[in-house]
Amino acid sequence: MSVPVLAIDGPSGAGKGTVSRAVAKKLGWHYLDSGSIYRSLAIAALKKHADLENEALIVDIAQSIALEFDCNDELVVRLDGEDITSQLALESTGNAASIVAALPEVRRVLLQKQKDFKRFPGLVADGRDMGTVVFPEAENKVFLTASAAERANRRYKQLIEKGIDANLVQIINEIEERDRRDMERQTAPLTMANDALYIDSSDMTLASVIEEVLNLIR
Ligand code: DC
Repeated sequence: MSVPVLAIDGPSGAGKGTVSRAVAKKLGWHYLDSGSIYRSLAIAALKKHADLENEALIVDIAQSIALEFDCNDELVVRLDGEDITSQLALESTGNAASIVAALPEVRRVLLQKQKDFKRFPGLVADGRDMGTVVFPEAENKVFLTASAAERANRRYKQLIEKGIDANLVQIINEIEERDRRDMERQTAPLTMANDALYIDSSDMTLASVIEEVLNLIR
């Protein structure tokens, strides 16, 4: 019997992480947050003051870092032994991740790390190319999106709730810039797999999105 995979792809801020975690928990499946792999690499590169577009150098860093995932409720990422979890969610980390993720050789080097997450009883994989490149064989695929304005709004509220100063116009600009980079890159661009279920969550509650995804599995 093959390991069941649910691939959830979509642009940043569409709620993939929250939905994927909730669905994985409900099903008792493993969870792959593929963005955190690119984010971890970005943190490592930034620490070394590396040029984020220098492919050979970034590949070198990707091959040298040791990442550990403790997949309980909370994701913990250690980079060469140091706990870097708190730096993962920063906007600056996400933007840098999008830059290193556009390098084809970097994606090739990180491919197997992601495939290794496919274990019994099943996997919920969240990212940009889960259903198209990493797990094209997945029997369940979702493309989860929302308008850029709605995604920026949600992000803005999250930051304000955390007591972090935020600027809505700047967030919209960054989201549009990231969408453009993730969709226009040559290798594994963000695109909907033709066998994916399209969900626009702009006017949906989180609970109804989770329900719709769970219905797909049932
Ligand atoms: O999902 P996220 O915001 O954590 O992802 C951060 C960046 O990493 C995203 O802008 C593009 C890149 N990424 C990718 O290229 N492929 C993936 N499967 C996941 C993330």
